[in-house]
Amino acid sequence: MSGSTNGTAGRPKLRSQLWFDNPENPGMTALYIERYLNFGLTPGELRSGKPIIGIAQTGNDLSPCNRHHLELAKRVRDGIIAMGGVPMEFPVHPIQETGKRPTAALDRNLAYLGLVETLYGYPLDGVVLTTGCDKTTPACIMAAATVNIPAIVLCGGPMLNGWHNGERTGSGTIVWKSREEMAAGHIDYEEFMEIVTSSAPSVGHCNTMGTASTMNALAEALGMTLPGCAAIPAPYRERGQIAYETGRRCVEMVWEDLKPSDIITREAIENAIVVNSAIGGSTNATIHINAIARHAGVPLDIFDWETIGHKVPLLVNMQPAGKYLGEEFHRAGGVPAVVYELMKRGLVHEGAITANGKPFGPNNSKIASRDHDVITPIETPMREEAGFIVLRGNLFDNAIMKTSVISPEFAERYLSNPSDPGAFEGRAIVFEGPEDYHHRIDDPALEIDEHCLLFIRGTGPIGYPGGAEVVNMQPPAALIKRGIHSLPCIGDGRQSGTSASPSILNASPEAAAGGGLAILQTGDRVRIDLHKRSADMLLSVEELNARRAALQGQGGFQFAGNQTPWQEIQRAMVDQFDEGMVLKPAVKYQRVAQTM
Ligand code: FES
Ligand code: MG
Repeated sequence: MSGSTNGTAGRPKLRSQLWFDNPENPGMTALYIERYLNFGLTPGELRSGKPIIGIAQTGNDLSPCNRHHLELAKRVRDGIIAMGGVPMEFPVHPIQETGKRPTAALDRNLAYLGLVETLYGYPLDGVVLTTGCDKTTPACIMAAATVNIPAIVLCGGPMLNGWHNGERTGSGTIVWKSREEMAAGHIDYEEFMEIVTSSAPSVGHCNTMGTASTMNALAEALGMTLPGCAAIPAPYRERGQIAYETGRRCVEMVWEDLKPSDIITREAIENAIVVNSAIGGSTNATIHINAIARHAGVPLDIFDWETIGHKVPLLVNMQPAGKYLGEEFHRAGGVPAVVYELMKRGLVHEGAITANGKPFGPNNSKIASRDHDVITPIETPMREEAGFIVLRGNLFDNAIMKTSVISPEFAERYLSNPSDPGAFEGRAIVFEGPEDYHHRIDDPALEIDEHCLLFIRGTGPIGYPGGAEVVNMQPPAALIKRGIHSLPCIGDGRQSGTSASPSILNASPEAAAGGGLAILQTGDRVRIDLHKRSADMLLSVEELNARRAALQGQGGFQFAGNQTPWQEIQRAMVDQFDEGMVLKPAVKYQRVAQTM
């Protein structure tokens, strides 16, 4: 904003008036205005200095997780108009986690780019960002950070709880569980379909603490939503009510000139990391929060996740780390109740300013947990030290592990050797991407037993463009039938936030970018030490060097070709997971609305 006033109301001149009320260029003003009148707007609405508020619409038929935003937008409009603004709704490139091939993560940066152009190039004074499905939330916040006009997030909310035979069926988590049941021969395909589809009983996003619930909770922890916004289930009446309040508030934010750069500070990012541990959030959060930080110009690296987040206790008993689903989380108090508990130990920055114009602490000082079985008091957490740890070694410079999902079975088998707690060694089984894994996992020739570690590579931002959610690999059916439900899994891909697998994932650099995983071979001995945070191939330096030379001789690590123009464009300029998987050339464009 220019800081000058329009003279009539003594208010600052709006950015939209560069288009709609620019006496220095009447010809362009007329041209800008005339086409926006043809759907019924009046010249007065556009020329009287009313804030033009965009509604970035992520809902559509291809994106069912966000589709009810088409309805919610009506309440957003009501709120905007009630505060004297003019709503203008526009589409965001669809990103549907479960429907997009080869992977929805490929499209996060594409939606980001499109939204940056829209926010920068059109007469918008502020924007309501509609979020929900996994990547829609980071894509929207990344773009708002780059452009830096007043912006507020309206979460879509989770689906209602799924139920089957009296048991909760949670999005995604039930797929991993039922897949095992089917492999073990306990259920057939028809039953598998019936159980899995029961987990999606209404509009809304995944009802587990997968990536969608995580990223919406973290949008709230960042201060980008109204307090309490993230957890309200999609069909609840409070969802429509907060849509209205969010629209109202966006108009006020324009007059207060409260921008993403005021909200997304280092303190806010640290709050998001702490809340992520306490809710048992998705490993994908590291990629998306690091991307938001980079576009906002906030210094952050992957090791900060352990430094800031590892010691934080797990307070939310929600699948996949726990038992409940989105409805219980909301009833127990949602994100504000979690923050209330964290504040007892001084674990969050209470002074961070948020979208309602108030600091984070006072916003969250009133709602304690209403159900201690769902959101535990911090004195009796579900688990101490629930955050991620970051490992490194000759396999990769860094990879993360979510400690909140380590099962008793896994811990007993791998972590409780009294002479060397936390360390395990085994024989590597290496798969070249998800197709190879599905093709060969049950091949008896691999002789996979409980002393093996499963590796997958070629699945990072370049290798499998966007990064495949495939590291949570199921053991061979023969092992599951013997009661072994998980083997250590390691890879340069991602893992669904709904998975309870304690994988070592997001390895950076990936094999396709020259990471050590590229030279690993099936049969190699590998040692993981969770206490030393190390992960190494037990090979001599000479052998490592010889393999590297051989790989270079073959022209480097091979991966599948591009199928679309965007795959080629993104592969050429994408950064690694630990750097947020951002488009490298995009990072230098910061606060671009100020450059008009
Ligand atoms: Fe869209 Fe999980 S698939 S939220
Ligand atoms: Mg996912």
